[in-house]
Order: sequence, then C-alpha cells, then structure tokens
Amino acid sequence: MSSPLLETHSLCYTFPDGTKALDDVNLIFHAGSFVVLAGANGSGKTVFMRHLNGLARPTSGEVFLHGKSILSDLSRARRSIGLVFQDADAQIVGQTVAKDAAFGPENLRLPRHEIDKRVQKALLSTGLVGFDERRPHTLSGGEKRRLAVAGVLTMEPEMLVLDEPFTGLDWPGCADLLAVLENLHLSGKTILLITHDLDKVLAQADRLILMESGCIRADGSPLEIIGEVEKRGIRRPAGEIADMSWKQRQ
Ligand SMILES: Nc1ncnc2c1ncn2[C@@H]1O[C@H](COP(=O)(O)OP(=O)(O)O)[C@@H](O)[C@H]1O
Ligand SMILES: [Mg+2]
Repeated sequence: MSSPLLETHSLCYTFPDGTKALDDVNLIFHAGSFVVLAGANGSGKTVFMRHLNGLARPTSGEVFLHGKSILSDLSRARRSIGLVFQDADAQIVGQTVAKDAAFGPENLRLPRHEIDKRVQKALLSTGLVGFDERRPHTLSGGEKRRLAVAGVLTMEPEMLVLDEPFTGLDWPGCADLLAVLENLHLSGKTILLITHDLDKVLAQADRLILMESGCIRADGSPLEIIGEVEKRGIRRPAGEIADMSWKQRQ
C-alpha cells in the first residue's frame, strides 16, 4: 500500500463554549483512495474537514501531510488539500465562471498563461467547458457546485475534500457531480466525501468511516461497515448490498 498522504493524530477540538466537536480522531488517508465519511448532523464532520488543511487549529493533536506537520508549511497544505465547502454560493468570488475559477491561482501570482491553462483544465474536468463568460449566479445548483470544485482544482490539490456536496441538488445534478468525482478519482485524485446520505456515493467508495459525537466509530470497506450505519444515526441505503456495485467485488 502507498505511504499515507494525510494523517490525523489524536485530533481533539473543543469550542470556547465547551462543545467537544472532535474527540481523539486518528485517521490515515492513502493516495488514490475514495473515502466516504458519514455521520449524523452535529457529529463533527465539518469541524474535522476544517482541520485537514490548517483552516482550524486543533485543541490538541496534529495533522500530517506526507509525514510532516501541516503547520510546518501551511501554504503547501492549503494547496495540497482542497476543501469544497457546503455553501457553493458563499464560495463564488468572480464575476464570471472563468474569473471565479482563476481566483486561487491568481492569488498564487502564477503567470497568466499558467492560470489560463489551469482554468481550462479545471472547467474540462468539471463539465463546464464553454461556461467561461457565464455569470456564476445564473448557474444551476449543480453547476455552481461543480464550479466550486473547479476553483479548488485550479490549485492542483492532491486530495479533494467535499462537505455534503449533494445538498439541494436534483438527481441529474447529483449524477453529474458524481461522474465528475469518479473521473477525478480515476485520474489519480484522492477523494474524501463527507455526507450523511449514503445512497448516492457508496458504489464509488473503497472505504467508509462513521463518525458520531466527534469520535470515529467504524472504519472499513462499505461492505464491512454498512451494518453499523443505522446505529450511528445514518439512513441505510435502499436496496440489497448484493445489488450494489461495490468496488471490492469488481
Ligand atoms: N461555532 C460553534 N460553537 C459551538 N459549537 C459549535 C460551533 N460550530 C459547530 N459546533 C458544534 O460542533 C459539533 C460538530 O459540528 P459540525 O462539525 O458542524 O457537525 P456536522 O458537520 O457533522 O453536522 C456540533 O455539536 C455543533 O453543534
Ligand atoms: Mg456539516
């Protein structure tokens, strides 16, 4: 197995009001994996995600990127671990799709031709070719979510972490986004998908992690873990496991 891309060691986070959101979270993410992190509302998923690139600082514990504390090079962690937040609207900063996607590499002060190259590649990967001059607020919910992914891709991250990316999307919107994620995974990106809704994503995942009350309660192949989900406040996907296209059976 490849060496870990990202590791959390005894990650704990307590809010100033005393709410304990993360309680001794130890996880290892290997390059090339497609992981689903599931948990009921309030289980700590979003707080956990914000720790992965140093956006939030743990009360105790550490995050390691390729074996080095992310605090030793925060800007590298920000580039390597791309976070796609739940609220796609709040992430839109550009007047057009192309300008919005260019925001990250512009901040890196990359040469114009490199920025343009990255933007076109990201729009291609997210099915947004030809949308360059569209005003972002005219996009559908699914297109906005894919623009948020494109904006993160222009930073050329090793790992993409998405927080509840299917919220509010209709089925075609979900299917398009899933296809984008599957292709990114096939092209080598490591994916961590955070959700409380397993129906849409388990066929893609090679690993399922269950979080509850800030703790990791289960971690393994979807086939091993599926029996535990209802105990942790997550709806079990409809249909029999035998009917699902689990990766490990291929
Ligand atoms: N700003 C805050 N102050 C105090 N507690 C918070 C704050 N933000 C989140 N929490 C609490 O932290 C816990 C984890 O929240 P969160 O990570 O958002 O859950 P999830 O993303 O799994 O729904 C919850 O109990 C939530 O109420
Ligand atoms: Mg959340």
